[in-house]
Amino acid sequence: MGNILAGKKGIIFGALDNQSIAWKVAERCVEEGAQIVLTNAPVAMRMGEINKLAEKCKAPVIPADATSLEDMENLFQKSMEHFGGKVDFVLHSIGMSVNVRKGKAYTDLNYDWMQKTFDVSAISFHKMMQTMWKLDAINDWGSILGLSYIAAQRVFPDYSEMAESKSLLESFARSFGYHFGDAKNVRVNTISQSPTMTTAGQGVKGFTEFFSYADKMSPLGNAPAEDCANYCVTLFSDLTRYVTMQNLYHDGGFSNMGMNPRLLED
Ligand SMILES: NC(=O)c1ccc[n+]([C@@H]2O[C@H](COP(=O)([O-])OP(=O)(O)OC[C@H]3O[C@@H](n4cnc5c(N)ncnc54)[C@H](O)[C@@H]3O)[C@@H](O)[C@H]2O)c1
Repeated sequence: MGNILAGKKGIIFGALDNQSIAWKVAERCVEEGAQIVLTNAPVAMRMGEINKLAEKCKAPVIPADATSLEDMENLFQKSMEHFGGKVDFVLHSIGMSVNVRKGKAYTDLNYDWMQKTFDVSAISFHKMMQTMWKLDAINDWGSILGLSYIAAQRVFPDYSEMAESKSLLESFARSFGYHFGDAKNVRVNTISQSPTMTTAGQGVKGFTEFFSYADKMSPLGNAPAEDCANYCVTLFSDLTRYVTMQNLYHDGGFSNMGMNPRLLED
């Protein structure tokens, strides 16, 4: 591997275990020469897995509930102290639906839970960017990334209120992308990733069947988490400095397919 993130400093949200997309991104960033800080919700820390990654990546772990502005501020301040300066890239890899977790039908959603879902899965992205904006925490030509899913554009009934969360997330990337681009040449994008076998992914009803459907529909098959990590690395690197305010499909071609004869053969 090369060294395309040499000298760069970044914060990675959302590495829960070694299946997490954020876990693979953290590993790849460090392999490419970056220094990183890891963060996750305090409740996720109790599982202790993140410490293994921290050791491997020689990275400090700073807990932060992404819905808490106080935690966000503490995270960015401590990270800047650790790095001795601003960050160059940030990955938001956070998603959770309370209604999906509790098995509520889309036609019978609990609205308090829905608010919580939007707060964790989408508004946290705005909170993260607003905190960075106010603390002036990112260098010029930096890169901010969130992870999305095609249910933001098309209907996948079992994805429930996460579809609206992802629409909101992608919209925040465009809107804040304008402000960050105009002020600091910082880019903001979302990657729309294939179904991936992770804790968050497998929380969706019928995920295994759906994973295999998407795999057959996509000419290249589902994009693995490791390849998503490679794509993230390119977007953090200086090779993509003018890509901003985009939702970028990393899905083996799924998003442009109508029908794949492979599916009919079964
Ligand atoms: N797995 C898939 O099929 C798939 C497909 C497309 C997009 N994505 C997106 O990728 C991202 C990462 O998910 P993943 O699949 O790696 O699953 P994951 O379960 O490994 O990661 C989700 C992370 O969100 C964190 N989180 C939840 N609540 C939080 C809070 N309040 N504060 C801070 N962190 C919190 C969890 O601790 C966990 O680390 C999510 O945005 C997800 O929607 C996943």
